[in-house]
Amino acid sequence: MTEKARKELDALDLLMQDHREMESLFSEFEYLRQNGRNTGRVIANACAELKIHDTLETEIFYPAVGKAAEDEEIDGLMDEAEEEHDTILELIEKLEQTRTDHKQRDAYFTILAGHVKHHVLGEETERFPVVKKLKRLDLDSVTAAMKKRKAELMAETGIAEADEETV
Ligand SMILES: [Fe+2]
Repeated sequence: MTEKARKELDALDLLMQDHREMESLFSEFEYLRQNGRNTGRVIANACAELKIHDTLETEIFYPAVGKAAEDEEIDGLMDEAEEEHDTILELIEKLEQTRTDHKQRDAYFTILAGHVKHHVLGEETERFPVVKKLKRLDLDSVTAAMKKRKAELMAETGIAEADEETV
């Protein structure tokens, strides 16, 4: 991706980019699992990416949207999303405790993937369209804050930006 294209992406585009990245990791997992190959790396990557996504949404995106929605009297726009995040984080925790039991770990990851897919569908078909119409949401500053935080989190986790990966 060129620097120009990167600059034009807003917070919603960035979150949707994460969602596409998740979906490709889930497909990769399915392929590996069905072929009896080791799924450890793809699971670890997906969990690391999910945690970053979760932090960006719960620290920056949801509070900003929640505030704008409250001002415009849209009830509980992000309530469902926050519950989904709790479930997803709980599953990641369980998964991380079953590192040695690969069958159990794959089973948890399959459940996790189902929850994430549900979350993605909810955001992209129900919540994001409403978010786009919020007049009081300063999307530019949300975007800037998310980009900054994402760079920090990726540096902490040691993940390279998807489009800069050489794999
Ligand atoms: Fe999301």
